[in-house]
Amino acid sequence: LVSVEFDVSAIEEGQTVTIQWRGLPVFVRHRTEAEVLEARSVPLEELKDPELDQQRVAESHPQWLIMIANCTHLGCVPVGEAGDYGGWFCPCHGSQFDISGRVRAGPAPTNLVVMPYEWLSEKLVRIG
Ligand code: FES
Repeated sequence: LVSVEFDVSAIEEGQTVTIQWRGLPVFVRHRTEAEVLEARSVPLEELKDPELDQQRVAESHPQWLIMIANCTHLGCVPVGEAGDYGGWFCPCHGSQFDISGRVRAGPAPTNLVVMPYEWLSEKLVRIG
């Protein structure tokens, strides 16, 4: 399947669900308002791969972070709600990602990858 439609209705605030797209794991995170604010408060100069949170989520759905769940170092799947940056921790070699999926520590060279997707309605997203 090239694209997948996914209904996010069942995902509570503060919860992440992992779905499959083209054989890859994809994190769908329903961020709290506090998490969105936190992601947006980080100065770009603190980032190894500088990207605004606004570049990583849809303007219409800022609470939804959707990205490929493979670490950009060597592909392990990071663990959620772990690490020092409010996001994910990769158990393989210790990379850490914030609640925007941006790399904040460790050997990962770049942020977790946001693949193309489009919101079809308030709760329905098409990935890919
Ligand atoms: Fe994640 Fe190496 S694969 S830090």
